[in-house]
Amino acid sequence: MKTIPVVIKYGGHAMTVPELSRAFARDLTDLARGGRSFIVVHGGGPQISSLLKRLNIESRFEQGLRVTDDATMEAVEMVLAGQVNKAVVAQFVQQGVRACGVCGRDASLLRAEVRRPELGNVGEVTKVDPAVLACLMDGGFMPVVAPVAEGPEGRALNVNADTAAGAVAGALAAEYFVLMSDVPGVLDKQGVLQPRLTRADIEAFKADGTITGGMIPKVDACLNALDHGCRRALILNGSESGALKRYLVDGEPLGTAVEN
Ligand SMILES: Nc1ncnc2c1ncn2[C@@H]1O[C@H](COP(=O)(O)OP(=O)(O)OP(=O)(O)O)[C@@H](O)[C@H]1O
Ligand SMILES: [Mg+2]
Repeated sequence: MKTIPVVIKYGGHAMTVPELSRAFARDLTDLARGGRSFIVVHGGGPQISSLLKRLNIESRFEQGLRVTDDATMEAVEMVLAGQVNKAVVAQFVQQGVRACGVCGRDASLLRAEVRRPELGNVGEVTKVDPAVLACLMDGGFMPVVAPVAEGPEGRALNVNADTAAGAVAGALAAEYFVLMSDVPGVLDKQGVLQPRLTRADIEAFKADGTITGGMIPKVDACLNALDHGCRRALILNGSESGALKRYLVDGEPLGTAVEN
């Protein structure tokens, strides 16, 4: 009997602090040894911005999505499928976990198309083929996914990591979809953590500007994952050591749970 996986979105911001990323790898390793299976989908916004800066290419965002011209796309793929993916894999391998990196273009894991041409090479996920993930997990490997997708004619498209992770969580009908970010969860205008949010709450928060920027793809990814059969979706503070264990094992009500 295969275990139902937990899909984790690991934010690029949480990764920039070495102690935090080591703690994250240790936490996940302990939980994996305890019998859970994980798929990690990572971001890499700060790392992409840093390379673009070195290349003198300007970074531009619209509603939390990076405007991606051809030169930016080259850099995005180098950073996400190369530098960041290998760094995340290495953290787990060091802990003795057999992590294996793939991107959405591998084995057509994530297919996407351009729906908003004004954003350039930014894709919306249209199809997930989770066969490669199942194959890795069956072999005892932990998949680490970079959110670069296969577009029309096989070209690379940049997909928001939250969206990619939500699509994977939905396609696998994951037990949990957990987005680890650098905030305690969704905060209201007074900065108060919202332990639970429904679809209607989310619509209202988006309309009145409470949820903006990088939080928009997170809440949308949670709703999308739930719509496709994922059981629970949560936005959790990745910079709080042990948060994942406290939530998954001890059942502590942390972060923001998104409900349908
Ligand atoms: N209502 C809200 N509550 C909490 N954070 C919010 C809210 N609205 C917008 N945000 C912003 O969303 C950010 C989290 O998304 P962001 O895309 O910056 O990080 P990430 O997804 O963890 O990293 P990456 O995109 O690099 O993978 C927070 O740092 C905060 O600035
Ligand atoms: Mg983000």
